[in-house]
Amino acid sequence: MSVPLPQPVVGPLTPAAIFLTLTVEPGRESEAREALAEVSGLVRSVGFRAQEGGLTCVTGIGSDFWDRAFRAPRPSGLHPFIALDGGTHRAPATPGDLFFHIRAARMDLCFELARQLDLAFSGISRVVDEVHGFRYFDTRDLLGFVDGTENPAGQLAEGVAITGPDTDHPASSYVIVQKYTHDLEAWERLSVEDQEHAIGRTKLSDIEYPDEAKPANAHITLNVIEDEEGNERQILRDNMPFGSVAEGTFGTYFIGYAADVTTTETMLERMFIGDPPGTTDRILDFSTALTGALFFVPSQDALDDPDL
Ligand code: HEM
Repeated sequence: MSVPLPQPVVGPLTPAAIFLTLTVEPGRESEAREALAEVSGLVRSVGFRAQEGGLTCVTGIGSDFWDRAFRAPRPSGLHPFIALDGGTHRAPATPGDLFFHIRAARMDLCFELARQLDLAFSGISRVVDEVHGFRYFDTRDLLGFVDGTENPAGQLAEGVAITGPDTDHPASSYVIVQKYTHDLEAWERLSVEDQEHAIGRTKLSDIEYPDEAKPANAHITLNVIEDEEGNERQILRDNMPFGSVAEGTFGTYFIGYAADVTTTETMLERMFIGDPPGTTDRILDFSTALTGALFFVPSQDALDDPDL
């Protein structure tokens, strides 16, 4: 049997992205399954017209939709997003049957693919969330910090994000997404030093604080986690800023891929519940999670086959 290929989960960070979340209308499951098998053809049609644009699309499948549409047992890491309520901060679970992570060097390519996907799924599903992300200066988020530095790269990224040959679904991944908005006015009232304490890195030069200087509630203190043997448990992130000056919305779209979804879930627990409980992530005092969803990312071969 040939080794399945993964979807383009691992790739360079791009200047533009669109994140689309859809719900599938009741009774339209088999049509949605067939439309899913057409997605890679649409990516080829749009992407080939501007090959230097490097258009890619990763498709994810939500837990409820899996149960409604497929006979095969649900992938071992797929379940509804686990909502968290630590008293002070909440991570809500919001609807999502299908998810498209569209990336390219240019927004026109992302937009054209989003439009073609919307046409292909017209009447079958409804877009419940659409976020257009842009690269901001030196890959900074709207809090002003460089975002993505400690991401694993190359082969390490594959190992972190893509399931191995001995798993129930090889060459697959699990993706968790959350749309956050920031209270930039309050954040900007902090001194740069206090902002750096919140993240655990310097702002201008993006240098990690030494361990002994990292506050317990700094973002990177809570997100650097290890297994029982002391190996770091990592995820692959491709966060993007988004916003609207008219609406006063300034946000970060968090997206984290993992072969083992419990890694991302542990990070979220540490951020929202705290470690120890109550010591929650300082960036949450300025950031509100509006959405939360988990999707299974089948291998490219499985996605292209309507029976998965
Ligand atoms: C690191 C921003 C949400 C996991 C970072 C860094 C920044 C940042 C600026 C430091 C640079 C880097 O290595 O990328 C944000 C913002 C978020 C957000 C603005 C949303 C408001 C999350 C969430 C998770 C997460 C929800 C996990 C579920 C991580 C991890 C690191 C990191 C694992 C790397 C830690 C290290 O190895 O040093 N984030 N992040 N982040 N973040 Fe986030």
